[in-house]
Amino acid sequence: MTIKVKAIIGSTSSNSFNYKVVDFMKKRYANKLDIIPVFINDVENFSQDIEEYPPVNAQKFKDEVKDSDAVLFAVPEYNFSIPGRLKNAIDWLSRGGDLTLNDKPGFIIGASPGVLGSVRAQQHLREILSNPALSPVLLPKSEVYIGAVHEKLNESGEITDQGTIEFLDTVVDNFVDFYNKINSVETVKA
Ligand code: FNR
Repeated sequence: MTIKVKAIIGSTSSNSFNYKVVDFMKKRYANKLDIIPVFINDVENFSQDIEEYPPVNAQKFKDEVKDSDAVLFAVPEYNFSIPGRLKNAIDWLSRGGDLTLNDKPGFIIGASPGVLGSVRAQQHLREILSNPALSPVLLPKSEVYIGAVHEKLNESGEITDQGTIEFLDTVVDNFVDFYNKINSVETVKA
């Protein structure tokens, strides 16, 4: 059985490196993970005035994320943090009483042309997600910083850097083990 993973693409760029990495992972790990990208481009601005009645795209985004076994965050870095549009989308997930991310297994990746591979954005994201209103269960001991990403992809957007591929292989195997462990504990509890 493959794990249905909704991959929240933190970029709204039509040429996003983070999307390309997710697309590569979708194809490479299709026998383990059913990775389905979820885009945030059309998610409306959050306002507390309308949190109980989200507009159509915000509701669609919440529903898409909810309909998953797990989540993957693909995170660009904007000014040492996550892009504002991603924060806006996450704000929707934290409200409305339906605890969309609560206890959902997940992991984080990020890519940038700079050497640090969105490390500062990922640290901020971890802090944001630690809010009890969000609280996915993130893969421990896992940090995926893909720096100089433009040098690691070919013209078709596939990762060609062997070290990065092997690293992602390990991360995905670790995530599958982690996911199975969580679910076997849940089964015993039930
Ligand atoms: C950036 N970029 C960037 N990179 C970085 O390593 N640290 C940073 O603080 C920033 N800040 C930043 C701000 C803004 C407004 C933009 C548009 C860009 C570069 C960024 O990492 C690069 O554009 C990535 O390619 C963005 O990810 P996607 O959209 O390609 O997935």
